[in-house]
Amino acid sequence: MPGALGRLRAGGVRKKDVLPSPNIWHWPEVYELENEAQDVHGAIWDAVRQECDWGALDVVDVGCGDGYHLPRFASTANSVMGVEPHEPLLRRARERIAGLPGVAVLAGSAQRLPLPDSSADLVHARTAYFFGPGCEPGIAEAERVLRPGGALVIVDLDGSHEPYGRWLRADLPSYDPAEIDQFFAGAGFSCRRVVARWRFADVAGLRAVLGIEFSKTVATRAFHELDGLEFDVGYRVHMRRKPTSLLPGRS
Ligand SMILES: C[S@@+](CC[C@H](N)C(=O)[O-])C[C@H]1O[C@@H](n2cnc3c(N)ncnc32)[C@H](O)[C@@H]1O
Repeated sequence: MPGALGRLRAGGVRKKDVLPSPNIWHWPEVYELENEAQDVHGAIWDAVRQECDWGALDVVDVGCGDGYHLPRFASTANSVMGVEPHEPLLRRARERIAGLPGVAVLAGSAQRLPLPDSSADLVHARTAYFFGPGCEPGIAEAERVLRPGGALVIVDLDGSHEPYGRWLRADLPSYDPAEIDQFFAGAGFSCRRVVARWRFADVAGLRAVLGIEFSKTVATRAFHELDGLEFDVGYRVHMRRKPTSLLPGRS
């Protein structure tokens, strides 16, 4: 990938392509706490690694936010490219990765990745853009950027897993976890379900994170349903590989 950096596409971000992310856009410090609390046992990382071990590979993290996951990929990858459309987060991500070899962050969106064709082995997105129906342009774009045999790995919350799913659905009544499963299955993705432990250092952090993820009513209800500073949250890890052969039935 470093060789490819010289051939980058102009990374213009079209406003219409960007999905608002009030949590990390408005409260990046609280979102940092959330990232720290999520997955204390590394279950999500294990699942991503089982789908595509990124050691010595070229990785793209789409919708990388302020780059929280980039250093982890960078510790063993050949190269890591974060792509993020929201300028303030782009700046924070660049500060985070300053001095880390083989890592860069570019302005771009899932629909228009600022990367050449067939230049990456793993395109990863965590709770960003790929939320189900409507994300077809991003899937096609990931496929363009992947080398044959490369993997698109999408990590998202599992809205059917309780209690977090119940809180999500309370705020988003039209959100249908089964429809999302059907969408990804129909598009040829495998699905691995993962349960990650969230653990907070203190009540203030827990309340702050619930407060950026849910409406005031749901956040208050969630806080009172919890017993202590830890709980399990379900995730889905969707994966699809770019075929290596043009012959039908061969991959
Ligand atoms: C909930 S945040 C997750 C950030 C990061 N993946 C993490 O786990 O820390 C979602 C991110 O997706 C970005 N985003 C919004 N629209 C996007 C698009 N069309 N393509 C790629 N990323 C997008 C947002 O700006 C935000 O940074």
